[in-house]
Amino acid sequence: MSKLLLSGGRVVNSTGSSDLDVLVRDGRIEAVGRFDDVPLGDDVERVDVSGRLLFPGGVDVHTHLDSPMMGTTTSDDFASGTRAAACGGTTTLVDFAMQPPGTTLLKSLADHHAKAEDKAVIDYSFHMCVTDLYDGATDEFPEIVQSGVSSFKVFMAYRGSIMLHDGDMFEVLRKSAALGGQVCVHAENGDVIDRLAADLVAAGRTGPGSHEIARPPATEVEAVHRAIRIARMADSPLYFVHLSTEGAVEAVAEARSRDWAIAGETCTHYLTLDRSLYDAPGFDAAKVVLTPPLRTQEHRDALWRGLRAGTLGVVSSDHCPFCLEEKRRLGEHDFRAVPNGGPGVEHRFIVMYAEGVRQGRLSPEKFVDLVATAPARQFGLPGKGSITPGADADIVVLDPDGTTTISAATQNQNMDYTPYEGWTLPGAIDAVYARGDLVARNGRFVGAEGRGRFIARTTR
Ligand code: URP
Ligand code: ZN
Ligand code: ZN
Repeated sequence: MSKLLLSGGRVVNSTGSSDLDVLVRDGRIEAVGRFDDVPLGDDVERVDVSGRLLFPGGVDVHTHLDSPMMGTTTSDDFASGTRAAACGGTTTLVDFAMQPPGTTLLKSLADHHAKAEDKAVIDYSFHMCVTDLYDGATDEFPEIVQSGVSSFKVFMAYRGSIMLHDGDMFEVLRKSAALGGQVCVHAENGDVIDRLAADLVAAGRTGPGSHEIARPPATEVEAVHRAIRIARMADSPLYFVHLSTEGAVEAVAEARSRDWAIAGETCTHYLTLDRSLYDAPGFDAAKVVLTPPLRTQEHRDALWRGLRAGTLGVVSSDHCPFCLEEKRRLGEHDFRAVPNGGPGVEHRFIVMYAEGVRQGRLSPEKFVDLVATAPARQFGLPGKGSITPGADADIVVLDPDGTTTISAATQNQNMDYTPYEGWTLPGAIDAVYARGDLVARNGRFVGAEGRGRFIARTTR
């Protein structure tokens, strides 16, 4: 039996903040209160966290670890990716189990389990990507959902590889809904994007900066409207991943005002990085070849407003890392072949704290809701996302007077760049506890290998 007392800190939950001690026993939070005068016994490890903020461990519901994509594999596996997450204050991931072409859903899911087992250092679960709705695919849905994978992802882009057409998306939505599952939608109009991209290549504009031009805001907005209508026809809830535009926020707000079960997330990079990064010289723009692309200030303002208004409920990282050299190898002569994605799982928590709370855009409680409490609730992760009795003791100890400088040279992500290179932010994560274990100290992993557990998630 292990007991830990974090004393003297300020506990910040999505529901409020107070100066309270946290008593942890056997990986769970036993009590939150003032224990100065309470005899707790000699077997308690006491840690003084005076002057520190205690946040629930981050819950990142959008990562791609050890994932096959666009002719390559993401550069972080479950060991390096979850270590990086832990060092950055994230203690739970929901990762996308990709369905490679020609592979059944159940086999794809089993393969993804095998990649994570004994490697993950924090708790994790999966969404099931459906990229090929072969005959009998939906017959596998009940087993998938019963195994604790209660959400699916479909792509409205990447025509000819992983994109589903509307009829197949409709089928996934209604079969998932019948099981109490939910569907995550990547909303971009893949047909239009492919035409625009082909025009650019034909005009000789083959560099990575063209990625943004081929994916104007309207390609997202149109797909969001269409997906909402298809979800209504399927009588299904729907969760939009990685929304990036003002028009998408407006569409989700309108749907929610009608009391439709439509939810939306955005990602750290859409809130903090500008499209001007596509104007970088040489091949550097490939660092931000992400889908959807980065946008202008106008869209960022709309995303922050959408978070405050509750239209968007979650901020995830969409950690989908490919080293720059790998992007160059595949796409130096044609931006369409640059693997789409970038790193972010390690820096989501501190960037959102700095850019949200410290810039006055979010209250500390709203920050907690967006990076921990709401994602846990949205995806059925009981015991995660709050510092309350009975919850898992996943706790981030943050020094508000410290600073964090982000750099590829010091990051834990298995990457040769970070889009936040050189950013110095207010706040420093001193320590991270996952189910009561100290797993990170001052940005370095100090926990045990392979300690993470698969979490079977609940349905709606
Ligand atoms: O840039 C990204 N997001 N890469 C592909 C994975 C995804 O979420 O679509
Ligand atoms: Zn996506
Ligand atoms: Zn993604």
